[in-house]
Amino acid sequence: MDAIQPGGPQVRLLDLIEAMRKLRRAACASHPDPGVVTDARGAALAILAPDGTFVSVNRSAAALLGYSSAELVGKSLVELAPDDAHAALADELSASAARDFHSFTAVLTGRTGHPTRLALHQQRVPTKAMDSAVSLTLFEEPLMVEPRSADPVDLLDASERLCQTYLMIGQQKERQRLASELHDGLGQALTLVKLMTEDALMRIRRGQVDDAVQLLDSTVFRIRETIGDVRQICGELRPLMLDKLGLPAALGSLCRRIERGTEAMSVVFDCDVADNDVPEHLKADMFRVAQEALNNAVKHADATEISLSLRGDAARLMLTIQDNGIGYESHPFATDEAYASGLGLIGMQHRVEMHGGAFSIESSATSGTLVCATWTR
Ligand SMILES: Nc1ncnc2c1ncn2[C@@H]1O[C@H](COP(=O)(O)OP(=O)(O)O)[C@@H](O)[C@H]1O
Ligand SMILES: [Mg+2]
Repeated sequence: MDAIQPGGPQVRLLDLIEAMRKLRRAACASHPDPGVVTDARGAALAILAPDGTFVSVNRSAAALLGYSSAELVGKSLVELAPDDAHAALADELSASAARDFHSFTAVLTGRTGHPTRLALHQQRVPTKAMDSAVSLTLFEEPLMVEPRSADPVDLLDASERLCQTYLMIGQQKERQRLASELHDGLGQALTLVKLMTEDALMRIRRGQVDDAVQLLDSTVFRIRETIGDVRQICGELRPLMLDKLGLPAALGSLCRRIERGTEAMSVVFDCDVADNDVPEHLKADMFRVAQEALNNAVKHADATEISLSLRGDAARLMLTIQDNGIGYESHPFATDEAYASGLGLIGMQHRVEMHGGAFSIESSATSGTLVCATWTR
């Protein structure tokens, strides 16, 4: 979480930890899917003043709202709600200020202007100034899962809950990565372009036209690079790429991009299914599994050849990614290891199993690694 501003409310770490424990307990009692909400260490958390002003906010929460942590500090949560929801949100915040724990839902629009309903769980944390308290706020985004009955017998069993938790951690990580990609990559590139253009302008004013022309040439080059970066980031966002091109073409373009970006690597793509043959709800999973397995092959396998294949018959659809690299020892992952080593393998497995598919990996030092995901039709 970003540091609390000097001069702002002083919260003791011990109080914060205690508040986390209480938040976890209270959220568990009030929420039907406790594992989903509180098991995720990438949870979106903020410390809010009683009027909803962000005192401190972690990257997950900031990314959920489309901002960086620094941009949100000092802003009020109420500003992020649509105008007609300001009063209701302010009421909820005063209800929170009067209680130790309060849970409510709110529609927040964030930077994109796209309204999202979020659940907020607030736990009061005492501050050094005895007359004031801030609240530790957990933001929870509704998961895209099938609606279920609230009947206890229908509640998810432990492994399904764990599965959803992994998915949520995966989502959070993905958001964090995209947010920092946009912020650090695109933000920095645009700042540089602005500085170069200002420099060129200054030179023109001073009559140093040749210098300015040189500078503008490199600015154009830099802009071209930035357009490439934007394309790359867009290409990683599911709706744009999949909806525009369809799954087979999106996979083909992924392969070409990997091949172009890696020296001496050939990526062969083989697909005998049409976009219409793939159920809509599986497309994003297939794309993500292919993306992760290809990236793993590039990052870890020391491979020179990868083949990605998507094949289908009347009974099933099968996605395979084979590399000719060094393979790895398969070992079971505990949740903690998943955090430490990235969520790639476990994320792929859960993505596939979540929609009834079967996932397997075969790996050997001599024949490389084969990742295989199969869904019955
Ligand atoms: N295709 C592969 N070839 C060799 N090793 C691999 C391959 N895919 C994954 N691994 C190994 O498995 C580990 C876990 O992979 P993953 O869960 O995707 O996490 P990450 O890619 O973030 O390290 C990797 O760190 C690597 O050691
Ligand atoms: Mg990986």
